[in-house]
Amino acid sequence: MRRAMVTLTLVFGLAVLAWSQESVRDTAHNLSVTGPGAVRAVSETRVCIFCHTTHNAVFQAPLWNRESPGGSYQMYWSETMDAYGSSGEAPQPNGSSKLCLSCHDGTIALGSTVSSGRIEMRGGITTMPSTSESNLGRDLSGDHPVSFTVTDHLVTTNNSKGDVPLRSVSEMRNHPLAKLDEENRIQCTTCHDPHRDPYGNFLLTAKPGELCIACHS
Ligand code: HEC
Ligand code: HEC
Ligand code: HEC
Ligand code: HEC
Repeated sequence: MRRAMVTLTLVFGLAVLAWSQESVRDTAHNLSVTGPGAVRAVSETRVCIFCHTTHNAVFQAPLWNRESPGGSYQMYWSETMDAYGSSGEAPQPNGSSKLCLSCHDGTIALGSTVSSGRIEMRGGITTMPSTSESNLGRDLSGDHPVSFTVTDHLVTTNNSKGDVPLRSVSEMRNHPLAKLDEENRIQCTTCHDPHRDPYGNFLLTAKPGELCIACHS
């Protein structure tokens, strides 16, 4: 019985692996030598290695293969925010958002991995090119707030003040598009799937507006 479970898990894991490999390959997140974009490696053929360690990852929370960026970010804040009371109180990026920012804030070399050292990129590229729109820098104050926890208390406070109404946490959780993480935090992965890009910008839908009304009504 135990062995059957192990076999099943293995088969499932390999299926997930094959699925991910299939989809990541055609996106800007394939940074291997076979990648479709301008940003790619000189000779590295492994696709997942830029974000995950090799042996791994498939069976539970994936093992990140990147150093976390240090230092602090300017986070979004406004007078009508209820999740935190000032820009200084905004939580710094955490969870999977830190992984995104380890490339997208433009401070860490794209080819820098924990398990395989520095992978050489074509054209002498190291960090995210400053000319790329994908280089977000450290100032995230113009971007949707991330890395705070959504609670029913937050929803009630927001709605009782007459701000743009928020749906309940369970409605957010049950929505097929928007994804809160396991601690009910909003992350970059709430709106983006780094493995698939059928609609552009790794968004989960062709109509970003649909995403917003998953939580704002
Ligand atoms: C550009 C970075 C990046 C690349 C490249 C990448 N992943 Fe991921 N992967 C992530 C992030 C970020 C998460 C966490 C998603 C979350 O927390 O919702 C993740 C999560 C996963 C998970 C857990 C299930 C899930 O979807 O959340 C699996 C399995 C996985 N990745 C497999 C792969 C495989 C296999 C490859 C190579 C074909 C790959 N990934 C390439 C960033 C990447
Ligand atoms: C290993 C480095 C790396 C990680 C980690 C990473 N990205 Fe990227 N991402 C890139 C590169 C390189 C590009 C292409 C930039 C370019 O060509 O200008 C890109 C492009 C994008 C784009 C723009 C796509 C387009 O069509 O132009 C989005 C959106 C994006 N990434 C979101 C994310 C999110 C969200 C995460 C975390 C879940 C993430 N990325 C993690 C390297 C990374
Ligand atoms: C609430 C949804 C949402 C969250 C959360 C979110 N994004 Fe986006 N992102 C979008 C949408 C929608 C676009 C499409 C362009 C636009 O409307 O700005 C986008 C565009 C992008 C782009 C393309 C370049 C650009 O600025 O247009 C990158 C790179 C990106 N996001 C990375 C991230 C990262 C990294 C995080 C986490 C720190 C994140 N996003 C969090 C919705 C989101
Ligand atoms: C997973 C749920 C979720 C999704 C999806 C989502 N939001 Fe939000 N958004 C929130 C929560 C929760 C807050 C925090 C509200 C507060 O603290 O008052 C917020 C805050 C905001 C704010 C700042 C409000 C203020 O008072 O300053 C804006 C603007 C915003 N969202 C726009 C968008 C847009 C546009 C989209 C779609 C691209 C989107 N949101 C998608 C949950 C979400």
